[in-house]
Amino acid sequence: MSLILGLETSCDETSAAIVADGRTILSNIISSQIDVHQKFGGVVPEIASRKHIENVMPVVDEALTAAGVKLADVDAIGVTYGPGLVGALLVGVAAAKALAFAAQKKLVGVNHLEGHIFANYLAHQKLEPPFVALVVSGGHTSLVYQKGYNDFELLGQTRDDAAGEAFDKVARVMGLPYPGGPFIDRLAAQGDPESISFPRAKTGENYEFSFSGLKSAVLNYLNSARQKGESVDQANVAASFQKAVVDVLVTKTLQAAKQYAVDKIVLAGGVAANSGLRAELSEKSAEAGFKLFYPSLVLCSDNAAMIASRAFFKHRAGEWTDLRLNALPSLKLGENKYFSLKA
Ligand code: KG4
Ligand code: ZN
Repeated sequence: MSLILGLETSCDETSAAIVADGRTILSNIISSQIDVHQKFGGVVPEIASRKHIENVMPVVDEALTAAGVKLADVDAIGVTYGPGLVGALLVGVAAAKALAFAAQKKLVGVNHLEGHIFANYLAHQKLEPPFVALVVSGGHTSLVYQKGYNDFELLGQTRDDAAGEAFDKVARVMGLPYPGGPFIDRLAAQGDPESISFPRAKTGENYEFSFSGLKSAVLNYLNSARQKGESVDQANVAASFQKAVVDVLVTKTLQAAKQYAVDKIVLAGGVAANSGLRAELSEKSAEAGFKLFYPSLVLCSDNAAMIASRAFFKHRAGEWTDLRLNALPSLKLGENKYFSLKA
Protein backbone atom coordinates (compact mmCIF):
# COMPACT_ATOMS: atom_id res chain seq x y z
CA MET A 1 0.00 0.00 0.00
CA SER A 2 1.24 3.46 -0.91
CA LEU A 3 0.32 6.29 1.45
CA ILE A 4 0.42 9.91 0.34
CA LEU A 5 0.16 13.00 2.54
CA GLY A 6 -1.54 15.72 0.48
CA LEU A 7 -1.39 19.45 1.19
CA GLU A 8 -3.58 22.18 -0.35
CA THR A 9 -3.31 25.93 0.34
CA SER A 10 -3.93 27.55 -3.07
CA CYS A 11 -6.82 29.80 -2.05
CA ASP A 12 -8.86 30.04 1.16
CA GLU A 13 -8.90 26.44 2.38
CA THR A 14 -6.03 24.94 4.37
CA SER A 15 -6.27 21.20 3.88
CA ALA A 16 -4.25 18.06 4.58
CA ALA A 17 -5.20 14.48 3.76
CA ILE A 18 -3.93 10.92 3.82
CA VAL A 19 -4.88 8.82 0.78
CA ALA A 20 -4.03 5.15 0.16
CA ASP A 21 -3.17 3.99 -3.36
CA GLY A 22 -4.64 7.14 -4.89
CA ARG A 23 -8.19 5.93 -4.32
CA THR A 24 -8.99 5.55 -0.61
CA ILE A 25 -9.34 8.54 1.72
CA LEU A 26 -8.02 7.80 5.22
CA SER A 27 -8.46 11.42 6.31
CA ASN A 28 -9.29 14.73 4.64
CA ILE A 29 -9.12 17.72 7.00
CA ILE A 30 -10.33 21.04 5.58
CA SER A 31 -10.00 24.28 7.51
CA SER A 32 -12.03 26.88 5.67
CA GLN A 33 -11.35 30.62 5.95
CA ILE A 34 -14.67 31.64 4.40
CA ASP A 35 -15.86 33.35 7.62
CA VAL A 36 -12.74 35.53 7.68
CA HIS A 37 -13.05 36.64 4.03
CA GLN A 38 -16.85 36.95 3.93
CA LYS A 39 -16.90 40.45 5.42
CA PHE A 40 -14.63 41.67 2.58
CA GLY A 41 -16.84 40.12 -0.11
CA GLY A 42 -13.99 38.00 -1.49
CA VAL A 43 -10.66 36.40 -0.64
CA VAL A 44 -8.05 38.87 0.68
CA PRO A 45 -4.71 37.30 -0.39
CA GLU A 46 -2.62 38.65 2.49
CA ILE A 47 -5.09 37.41 5.10
CA ALA A 48 -5.29 34.03 3.34
CA SER A 49 -1.49 33.59 3.58
CA ARG A 50 -1.45 34.47 7.28
CA LYS A 51 -4.28 32.07 8.05
CA HIS A 52 -2.54 29.27 6.12
CA ILE A 53 0.60 29.84 8.21
CA GLU A 54 -1.43 29.49 11.41
CA ASN A 55 -3.37 26.46 10.21
CA VAL A 56 -1.05 24.37 8.10
CA MET A 57 0.81 22.35 10.75
CA PRO A 58 -2.24 21.77 13.00
CA VAL A 59 -4.15 20.55 9.93
CA VAL A 60 -1.29 18.17 8.97
CA ASP A 61 -1.20 16.80 12.54
CA GLU A 62 -4.96 16.32 12.50
CA ALA A 63 -4.84 14.50 9.15
CA LEU A 64 -2.14 12.10 10.41
CA THR A 65 -4.00 11.47 13.69
CA ALA A 66 -7.38 10.95 11.99
CA ALA A 67 -5.80 8.45 9.57
CA GLY A 68 -3.92 6.71 12.41
CA VAL A 69 -0.58 7.03 10.63
CA LYS A 70 2.76 8.69 11.39
CA LEU A 71 4.72 10.91 9.04
CA ALA A 72 7.32 8.12 8.90
CA ASP A 73 4.66 5.79 7.37
CA VAL A 74 3.89 7.94 4.31
CA ASP A 75 5.59 7.23 0.98
CA ALA A 76 5.44 10.75 -0.44
CA ILE A 77 4.18 14.26 0.18
CA GLY A 78 2.07 15.85 -2.54
CA VAL A 79 1.48 19.60 -2.52
CA THR A 80 -0.35 22.09 -4.75
CA TYR A 81 2.25 24.40 -6.34
CA GLY A 82 -0.10 26.22 -8.75
CA PRO A 83 -2.26 27.77 -10.01
CA GLY A 84 -3.51 29.97 -7.16
CA LEU A 85 -2.60 32.90 -4.96
CA VAL A 86 1.19 33.06 -4.78
CA GLY A 87 1.42 33.83 -1.05
CA ALA A 88 -1.09 31.13 -0.21
CA LEU A 89 0.65 28.53 -2.40
CA LEU A 90 4.03 29.37 -0.87
CA VAL A 91 2.84 28.37 2.60
CA GLY A 92 1.87 24.86 1.47
CA VAL A 93 4.98 24.45 -0.67
CA ALA A 94 7.28 25.59 2.17
CA ALA A 95 5.53 23.28 4.66
CA ALA A 96 5.69 20.31 2.28
CA LYS A 97 9.38 20.91 1.54
CA ALA A 98 10.19 21.15 5.26
CA LEU A 99 8.29 17.92 6.01
CA ALA A 100 9.86 16.11 3.06
CA PHE A 101 13.35 17.22 4.10
CA ALA A 102 12.86 16.40 7.79
CA ALA A 103 11.26 12.99 7.22
CA GLN A 104 13.27 12.15 4.06
CA LYS A 105 10.18 11.70 1.89
CA LYS A 106 9.66 12.12 -1.83
CA LEU A 107 8.10 15.46 -2.78
CA VAL A 108 5.48 15.65 -5.55
CA GLY A 109 4.31 19.01 -6.94
CA VAL A 110 0.64 18.91 -7.96
CA ASN A 111 -1.31 21.13 -10.34
CA HIS A 112 -4.48 22.23 -8.53
CA LEU A 113 -6.69 21.83 -11.62
CA GLU A 114 -5.46 18.30 -12.26
CA GLY A 115 -6.20 17.67 -8.58
CA HIS A 116 -9.84 18.68 -9.09
CA ILE A 117 -10.20 16.03 -11.82
CA PHE A 118 -8.65 13.39 -9.53
CA ALA A 119 -11.40 13.93 -6.93
CA ASN A 120 -13.34 11.67 -9.29
CA TYR A 121 -10.89 8.77 -8.83
CA LEU A 122 -11.62 8.99 -5.10
CA ALA A 123 -15.37 9.12 -5.65
CA HIS A 124 -15.49 6.39 -8.32
CA GLN A 125 -13.17 3.48 -7.59
CA LYS A 126 -13.46 1.95 -11.06
CA LEU A 127 -13.09 5.17 -13.07
CA GLU A 128 -10.21 5.06 -15.54
CA PRO A 129 -9.06 7.36 -18.35
CA PRO A 130 -9.64 8.22 -21.19
CA PHE A 131 -12.40 10.78 -20.72
CA VAL A 132 -13.26 14.41 -21.28
CA ALA A 133 -13.31 16.53 -18.11
CA LEU A 134 -14.97 19.87 -17.49
CA VAL A 135 -13.14 21.69 -14.68
CA VAL A 136 -15.21 24.59 -13.39
CA SER A 137 -14.06 26.52 -10.34
CA GLY A 138 -13.78 30.01 -8.90
CA GLY A 139 -10.62 30.69 -10.87
CA HIS A 140 -10.83 28.39 -13.90
CA THR A 141 -13.08 26.97 -16.59
CA SER A 142 -11.34 24.36 -18.70
CA LEU A 143 -12.16 21.43 -20.93
CA VAL A 144 -9.59 18.68 -20.73
CA TYR A 145 -9.00 15.43 -22.60
CA GLN A 146 -7.40 13.03 -20.15
CA LYS A 147 -5.81 10.20 -22.13
CA GLY A 148 -3.95 8.50 -19.27
CA TYR A 149 -3.41 9.16 -15.58
CA ASN A 150 -0.47 11.43 -16.40
CA ASP A 151 -1.47 12.52 -19.88
CA PHE A 152 -3.62 15.63 -20.28
CA GLU A 153 -4.56 17.77 -23.23
CA LEU A 154 -6.07 21.17 -22.52
CA LEU A 155 -8.78 21.62 -25.16
CA GLY A 156 -9.82 25.13 -24.20
CA GLN A 157 -10.50 27.46 -21.32
CA THR A 158 -12.16 30.74 -20.50
CA ARG A 159 -10.94 33.89 -22.19
CA ASP A 160 -12.04 36.09 -19.30
CA ASP A 161 -14.04 35.29 -16.16
CA ALA A 162 -14.21 31.77 -14.75
CA ALA A 163 -17.71 30.33 -14.33
CA GLY A 164 -17.47 30.47 -10.52
CA GLU A 165 -16.19 34.04 -10.68
CA ALA A 166 -19.27 35.03 -12.73
CA PHE A 167 -21.52 33.33 -10.15
CA ASP A 168 -19.75 35.18 -7.31
CA LYS A 169 -19.84 38.60 -9.02
CA VAL A 170 -23.52 38.36 -9.94
CA ALA A 171 -24.32 37.18 -6.41
CA ARG A 172 -22.42 40.12 -4.92
CA VAL A 173 -24.47 42.65 -6.89
CA MET A 174 -27.64 40.84 -5.82
CA GLY A 175 -26.57 41.34 -2.19
CA LEU A 176 -25.83 37.67 -1.52
CA PRO A 177 -22.91 36.57 0.71
CA TYR A 178 -19.50 35.35 -0.55
CA PRO A 179 -19.00 32.88 -2.17
CA GLY A 180 -22.24 33.43 -4.04
CA GLY A 181 -22.38 30.29 -6.21
CA PRO A 182 -24.32 28.12 -3.73
CA PHE A 183 -26.76 31.00 -3.00
CA ILE A 184 -27.50 31.55 -6.71
CA ASP A 185 -27.96 27.79 -7.05
CA ARG A 186 -30.58 27.76 -4.26
CA LEU A 187 -32.38 30.87 -5.55
CA ALA A 188 -32.38 29.51 -9.11
CA ALA A 189 -34.32 26.45 -7.98
CA GLN A 190 -37.28 28.75 -7.22
CA GLY A 191 -37.11 30.78 -10.45
CA ASP A 192 -38.01 30.40 -14.10
CA PRO A 193 -34.86 29.88 -16.25
CA GLU A 194 -36.70 31.06 -19.38
CA SER A 195 -38.00 34.31 -17.85
CA ILE A 196 -35.10 36.58 -18.87
CA SER A 197 -33.08 36.15 -22.04
CA PHE A 198 -29.38 36.59 -21.16
CA PRO A 199 -26.72 36.16 -23.91
CA ARG A 200 -24.78 32.94 -24.55
CA ALA A 201 -21.22 33.87 -25.58
CA LYS A 202 -20.40 32.91 -29.14
CA THR A 203 -16.74 31.96 -29.06
CA GLY A 204 -16.92 29.93 -32.28
CA GLU A 205 -16.18 26.31 -33.09
CA ASN A 206 -13.65 25.77 -30.32
CA TYR A 207 -13.54 24.85 -26.66
CA GLU A 208 -13.08 28.33 -25.29
CA PHE A 209 -15.52 30.05 -22.97
CA SER A 210 -16.37 33.64 -22.13
CA PHE A 211 -18.53 34.73 -19.22
CA SER A 212 -17.75 38.44 -18.85
CA GLY A 213 -20.41 39.49 -21.42
CA LEU A 214 -23.06 37.47 -19.61
CA LYS A 215 -21.97 38.89 -16.25
CA SER A 216 -22.22 42.45 -17.64
CA ALA A 217 -25.66 41.73 -19.12
CA VAL A 218 -26.95 40.56 -15.72
CA LEU A 219 -25.39 43.55 -13.94
CA ASN A 220 -26.93 45.94 -16.52
CA TYR A 221 -30.31 44.30 -16.07
CA LEU A 222 -30.12 44.75 -12.29
CA ASN A 223 -28.80 48.34 -12.49
CA SER A 224 -31.37 49.50 -15.01
CA ALA A 225 -34.21 48.05 -12.90
CA ARG A 226 -32.75 49.79 -9.84
CA GLN A 227 -32.54 53.15 -11.68
CA LYS A 228 -36.14 52.87 -12.85
CA GLY A 229 -37.22 51.95 -9.34
CA GLU A 230 -38.58 48.62 -10.59
CA SER A 231 -38.36 45.55 -8.41
CA VAL A 232 -36.67 42.46 -9.84
CA ASP A 233 -37.56 38.86 -9.23
CA GLN A 234 -34.23 37.64 -7.79
CA ALA A 235 -35.13 33.99 -8.30
CA ASN A 236 -35.85 34.57 -12.00
CA VAL A 237 -32.57 36.47 -12.45
CA ALA A 238 -30.63 33.67 -10.71
CA ALA A 239 -32.37 30.94 -12.72
CA SER A 240 -31.94 32.70 -16.08
CA PHE A 241 -28.28 33.55 -15.39
CA GLN A 242 -27.50 30.01 -14.21
CA LYS A 243 -29.21 28.54 -17.28
CA ALA A 244 -27.08 30.72 -19.58
CA VAL A 245 -23.87 29.47 -17.91
CA VAL A 246 -25.00 25.84 -17.86
CA ASP A 247 -26.13 25.83 -21.52
CA VAL A 248 -22.70 26.85 -22.77
CA LEU A 249 -20.82 24.49 -20.45
CA VAL A 250 -22.98 21.49 -21.38
CA THR A 251 -22.97 22.17 -25.15
CA LYS A 252 -19.18 22.45 -25.36
CA THR A 253 -18.53 19.48 -23.08
CA LEU A 254 -20.72 17.19 -25.19
CA GLN A 255 -19.13 18.52 -28.37
CA ALA A 256 -15.66 17.65 -26.98
CA ALA A 257 -16.74 14.18 -25.81
CA LYS A 258 -18.05 13.44 -29.31
CA GLN A 259 -14.98 14.79 -31.10
CA TYR A 260 -12.56 12.86 -28.90
CA ALA A 261 -14.69 9.70 -29.11
CA VAL A 262 -14.69 8.95 -25.39
CA ASP A 263 -17.55 7.25 -23.58
CA LYS A 264 -17.07 9.04 -20.23
CA ILE A 265 -17.47 12.65 -19.10
CA VAL A 266 -16.07 13.89 -15.79
CA LEU A 267 -17.20 17.01 -13.96
CA ALA A 268 -14.88 18.68 -11.42
CA GLY A 269 -14.23 21.86 -9.41
CA GLY A 270 -16.30 24.00 -7.04
CA VAL A 271 -18.99 24.78 -9.64
CA ALA A 272 -19.46 21.01 -10.20
CA ALA A 273 -21.58 21.30 -7.04
CA ASN A 274 -24.16 23.31 -8.99
CA SER A 275 -27.42 21.41 -9.12
CA GLY A 276 -28.52 22.98 -12.44
CA LEU A 277 -25.24 21.95 -14.09
CA ARG A 278 -25.38 18.41 -12.66
CA ALA A 279 -28.99 17.93 -13.79
CA GLU A 280 -28.53 19.29 -17.31
CA LEU A 281 -25.21 17.52 -17.92
CA SER A 282 -26.66 14.24 -16.56
CA GLU A 283 -29.66 14.48 -18.86
CA LYS A 284 -27.75 15.49 -21.99
CA SER A 285 -24.94 12.96 -21.37
CA ALA A 286 -27.43 10.13 -20.95
CA GLU A 287 -29.29 11.15 -24.14
CA ALA A 288 -26.02 11.11 -26.09
CA GLY A 289 -24.84 7.81 -24.55
CA PHE A 290 -22.05 9.13 -22.30
CA LYS A 291 -21.52 8.01 -18.72
CA LEU A 292 -21.18 11.01 -16.41
CA PHE A 293 -19.04 11.09 -13.25
CA TYR A 294 -18.88 13.78 -10.58
CA PRO A 295 -17.61 13.83 -7.00
CA SER A 296 -19.53 14.35 -3.75
CA LEU A 297 -19.98 17.98 -2.69
CA VAL A 298 -17.05 17.97 -0.26
CA LEU A 299 -14.70 16.64 -2.97
CA CYS A 300 -15.89 19.28 -5.50
CA SER A 301 -14.48 22.19 -3.52
CA ASP A 302 -10.84 22.60 -2.56
CA ASN A 303 -9.46 19.72 -0.49
CA ALA A 304 -6.15 17.90 -0.04
CA ALA A 305 -7.45 14.38 -0.73
CA MET A 306 -7.71 15.17 -4.45
CA ILE A 307 -4.13 16.55 -4.33
CA ALA A 308 -2.91 13.34 -2.66
CA SER A 309 -4.68 11.24 -5.31
CA ARG A 310 -3.02 13.22 -8.12
CA ALA A 311 0.34 12.92 -6.34
CA PHE A 312 -0.05 9.12 -6.05
CA PHE A 313 -0.29 8.67 -9.83
CA LYS A 314 2.68 11.00 -10.44
CA HIS A 315 4.74 9.25 -7.76
CA ARG A 316 3.87 5.84 -9.23
CA ALA A 317 5.21 7.05 -12.58
CA GLY A 318 8.45 8.25 -10.95
CA GLU A 319 7.53 11.91 -11.22
CA TRP A 320 8.76 13.62 -8.12
CA THR A 321 10.88 16.67 -7.55
CA ASP A 322 13.51 18.04 -5.20
CA LEU A 323 13.57 21.03 -2.85
CA ARG A 324 13.74 23.48 -5.76
CA LEU A 325 9.94 23.17 -6.07
CA ASN A 326 8.42 26.67 -6.05
CA ALA A 327 4.94 28.18 -6.15
CA LEU A 328 3.75 28.96 -9.70
CA PRO A 329 0.57 31.08 -9.55
CA SER A 330 -0.13 30.78 -13.32
CA LEU A 331 0.73 27.09 -13.80
CA LYS A 332 -1.19 25.61 -16.76
CA LEU A 333 -3.02 22.33 -16.71
CA GLY A 334 -0.85 19.50 -18.06
CA GLU A 335 2.29 21.65 -17.65
CA ASN A 336 5.02 19.94 -15.66
CA LYS A 337 7.38 22.68 -14.59
CA TYR A 338 9.46 20.53 -12.31
CA PHE A 339 11.04 17.75 -14.30
CA SER A 340 10.76 14.28 -12.91
CA LEU A 341 13.74 12.92 -11.08
CA LYS A 342 13.32 9.26 -11.84
CA ALA A 343 15.20 6.93 -9.51
O1 KG4 B 1 -12.89 24.78 -6.73
P1 KG4 B 1 -13.24 25.82 -5.73
O2 KG4 B 1 -13.61 25.40 -4.34
O3 KG4 B 1 -12.09 26.86 -5.59
C1 KG4 B 1 -11.31 27.23 -6.68
O4 KG4 B 1 -10.36 26.46 -7.02
O5 KG4 B 1 -11.65 28.29 -7.28
O6 KG4 B 1 -14.44 26.66 -6.38
C2 KG4 B 1 -15.06 27.72 -5.72
C3 KG4 B 1 -16.12 28.29 -6.63
C4 KG4 B 1 -16.73 29.60 -6.11
O7 KG4 B 1 -16.76 30.51 -7.16
C5 KG4 B 1 -18.12 29.17 -5.69
O8 KG4 B 1 -19.08 30.21 -5.78
C6 KG4 B 1 -18.42 28.08 -6.69
O9 KG4 B 1 -17.21 27.36 -6.77
N1 KG4 B 1 -19.51 27.20 -6.26
C7 KG4 B 1 -20.70 27.11 -6.91
C8 KG4 B 1 -21.50 26.20 -6.16
N2 KG4 B 1 -20.76 25.78 -5.08
C9 KG4 B 1 -19.55 26.40 -5.17
N3 KG4 B 1 -21.13 27.71 -8.03
C10 KG4 B 1 -22.38 27.42 -8.43
N4 KG4 B 1 -23.21 26.58 -7.76
C11 KG4 B 1 -22.81 25.95 -6.63
N5 KG4 B 1 -23.64 25.12 -6.01
ZN1 ZN C 1 -10.14 24.68 -6.69
